[in-house]
Amino acid sequence: MANNNNEKILDGRAAIVTGGARGIGLAVTRRLHEMGAAVVVADSGVSIAGENPDAAVAEKVSAELGARAAAFTDDIADAAAARAAVELAITKFGGLDIVVNNAAILRDGFIFKSVPANWDAVIRTNLSGPFYVLAAATPHLREQAKAGRASGRIINITSSAGLYGNFGQSAYASAKAGLLGLTRVVAMDMARSGVTCNAIAPFAATRVTETIQPANEAQARYKERALKIAPTFVAELVAYLCSPAAQRISGQLLGVRGREVFLFSQPRPIEKTVMPAEGSVEASLTQAFKERFAGKLIDLATDLEVFNTEPVI
Ligand SMILES: NC(=O)c1ccc[n+]([C@@H]2O[C@H](COP(=O)([O-])OP(=O)(O)OC[C@H]3O[C@@H](n4cnc5c(N)ncnc54)[C@H](O)[C@@H]3O)[C@@H](O)[C@H]2O)c1
Repeated sequence: MANNNNEKILDGRAAIVTGGARGIGLAVTRRLHEMGAAVVVADSGVSIAGENPDAAVAEKVSAELGARAAAFTDDIADAAAARAAVELAITKFGGLDIVVNNAAILRDGFIFKSVPANWDAVIRTNLSGPFYVLAAATPHLREQAKAGRASGRIINITSSAGLYGNFGQSAYASAKAGLLGLTRVVAMDMARSGVTCNAIAPFAATRVTETIQPANEAQARYKERALKIAPTFVAELVAYLCSPAAQRISGQLLGVRGREVFLFSQPRPIEKTVMPAEGSVEASLTQAFKERFAGKLIDLATDLEVFNTEPVI
């Protein structure tokens, strides 16, 4: 994609990008750095399932970026580690302005075969991790806003799997759906400080896309098409949300797939019925489902089936 905006509009800003050394996180790290931000690359270098940490992964990225970069290689899904990452940004770069919660792991399995330890690990990394980082970062973002520093930005990387659901992804989808609730509340809690908080559901070719096991023809087409989409497009949207132009955008759920940017709806009532005070509730609800709700029920299509169109790149 031709990018006309190479101005260093993030000069003097400091960012933490969790999972910032690979895939989408790496593209975000590079883009924010290119725009002038200092970046803490918070990546423990784990496998897709969250195993075998390797500090060299983030250290290499940080070394390549040079002066305005620092590697943080502890597991970020831990309250003390999250505080340490925030402290690193503040001591090394003089503050913290941008938080991108991007680190995530996958441990799939049908609900009827699920392993509780896998649920715990996925919820800890993909939902508690962002909470710990925000619990550590938001007091500083608030204080800095009071002191007159340009207001902060929070971006939570969610997934369309959390909005539509996908086979075998109970823990992953639950964590990602939870991230939407976290995004809304943080947007509200931080509004007075002028700090924005948004969620992005990305689509991009990463090592994770390569491991998709299609469950049907539509999912197979999704995979084939997703493998064509560079993660740099996600980085462009993240960078935009960090820019002064996006000061008023908060609490939103966006999607990005190549050059397509989606504004997602957020669940709101779309129809209503009132149960009778007397008489048959069953008859009343049956009628409502047949008449008012019919045609508005949400089908069981997975995100991979819905987004299997040719990407615009
Ligand atoms: N690739 C896609 O199309 C796609 C689709 C939907 C959502 N997402 C989301 O985008 C984000 C990035 O995905 P990706 O495909 O680039 O994944 P990836 O596996 O390529 O990168 C994730 C990075 O996070 C790091 N990480 C994981 N757990 C960590 C922890 N506890 N502490 C520190 N670092 C940790 C890993 O080491 C890795 O470098 C994730 O939140 C993912 O759920 C991606």
